[in-house]
Amino acid sequence: MERLVRLHDRSFRLYKSESEILTAVREVANKINAEYIGRRPLLVPVLNGAFMFASDLLKELKLDCELSFIQAASYHGTTKSTGNPIVAIGLNQSIEGRHVIIIEDIIDTGVTLSKIIPEFLAQNPASVKVASLLLKPLALKTDLKVDYVGMEIPNDFIVGYGLDYDGLGRNLRDIYQVIPE
Ligand code: IMP
Ligand code: MG
Repeated sequence: MERLVRLHDRSFRLYKSESEILTAVREVANKINAEYIGRRPLLVPVLNGAFMFASDLLKELKLDCELSFIQAASYHGTTKSTGNPIVAIGLNQSIEGRHVIIIEDIIDTGVTLSKIIPEFLAQNPASVKVASLLLKPLALKTDLKVDYVGMEIPNDFIVGYGLDYDGLGRNLRDIYQVIPE
């Protein structure tokens, strides 16, 4: 495995190896396996970043589960007062009465999910929980509750395992941390 990668104008150093990542994924899966016995959760990964975590997580789930991807999109309202709300697009099935688990690659400020969760709750699901591979606790700006966390990390920018730097790096198997300039 390469220890340094160059993407656009920045260099990144190896931070979490694929095997460390997969251990964290299995820990999250084991908790979900234990807590959702007899239920059939609907897993809702947030594109693009969560695709790789979602793939590895589902392989470790030993219960009946369903999958529906969403994307978080900025909605450009017609008046300035609406600001730039974030909406979930792509959910193509009813979540009424369902046990929903939102799957994220990383939670940074928590703003994205704190906008999306109320949209979900408005549709009367049985429950909504959040599973994120990574969490930057020091960056959290909301009171978002993250139910399942693979790894807590400091506030440095990272890429790989689905996460990108300006579109690049999603295909890396390991996670890399930006080297300060
Ligand atoms: P939040 O709304 O601030 O929690 O932002 C969450 C989203 O920002 C994540 O789903 C990622 O797409 C992106 N993000 C946050 N931190 C990083 C990072 O270190 N590297 C790459 N993307 C990041
Ligand atoms: Mg994301």
